[in-house]
Amino acid sequence: MRFIGGKSNLLTEIGKVVSNYTDNVHSVIDIFSGSGAVSAYFKNNQYNVIGNDIMYFSYVLSRGTTALDKAPTFEKLGINNPIEYLNNLHIEDTDIDISECFIYQQYSPHDENNRMYFQNENAIKIDIIRITIERWKEQNLINEEEYFYLLAVLISAVPYVSNITGVYGAYLKHWDNRTYHELTLKKPNLISHGGKAIFFNENCDKLLPNIAGDLLYADPPYNSRQYLPNYHVLETIALYDYPQIHGITGMRDYKNQRSEFCTVRGVEAAFRRMIENAKVRYIMISYNNEGLLSTQQLTAICKEYAVKNSFQLYEIDYRRYNNVGTTPGGVTEQIYFFQK
Ligand SMILES: C[S@@+](CC[C@H](N)C(=O)[O-])C[C@H]1O[C@@H](n2cnc3c(N)ncnc32)[C@H](O)[C@@H]1O
Repeated sequence: MRFIGGKSNLLTEIGKVVSNYTDNVHSVIDIFSGSGAVSAYFKNNQYNVIGNDIMYFSYVLSRGTTALDKAPTFEKLGINNPIEYLNNLHIEDTDIDISECFIYQQYSPHDENNRMYFQNENAIKIDIIRITIERWKEQNLINEEEYFYLLAVLISAVPYVSNITGVYGAYLKHWDNRTYHELTLKKPNLISHGGKAIFFNENCDKLLPNIAGDLLYADPPYNSRQYLPNYHVLETIALYDYPQIHGITGMRDYKNQRSEFCTVRGVEAAFRRMIENAKVRYIMISYNNEGLLSTQQLTAICKEYAVKNSFQLYEIDYRRYNNVGTTPGGVTEQIYFFQK
């Protein structure tokens, strides 16, 4: 999935840095897992992974894919191919009432509602698939792995029919071509011969004291843009909790998912707490030279906690990372690495 600050273009660099320490590193904590690309990369390279993110849909994506070694069998459900079944589901074939369809009611334009995130047909399809998955779980027809697998498949499919430029902070005022495609669930590729991977959905402050590993990989937000507002529609599809929403974009409340890494006042203390709480031997931080903390500030913090002479700062040309032109002066993607 396209994800703000996603590291799919930086995996080789991340892997290279870690490979310098391979003998000592067998397990990795991906504490801000986002799209899950880094967790999947480490699992694929035989590391054991503990992943985590404060956003529920992010947890769902990894819990339903990278945490699994093979596709679930859906024995109890008695439907041979649930993905195909869900792709062919129509509201008329169900007893779902249109009034229950939250995404249709709130995020596609009809009657009084003007929000243009989805074409009506796709919004209804998202709703009936999501409601059906929940019912299967409530009726004990699917187990936890099967539940998250199907949710991850649904969440992965939604951006392909969303009327946005990449994030859900706003919808477009005209219909983008992709919105005319019918929402289609696709079987995900799973990693069958990798390390073990488990995932959490917690604030890092709460989780880190309770877990341990060889390496902490920390890819926090870099600037004051909170993540949840940019992904609120995916979060609501994942939770399907009929939230109170407000404003032009229909934003859900996210006071418990605000990140201290996005505040000028909180960011330094947030880094310190993270480093102090981490029960690991090595710490690797992704950041850039335009983040809320300057390179000098973050370097100084890392050095405070680093074993003498273990600190390294790797800088990667942003153009190479993002494959696009950039402002003169150059944004540099950075990897801070040290032994704690
Ligand atoms: C830069 S993104 C990570 C991108 C990820 N490495 C990838 O490749 O997709 C930062 C992530 O940190 C999460 N986050 C921010 N503050 C957090 C906190 N206090 N605890 C846990 N996750 C947090 C955000 O939800 C977001 O997904």
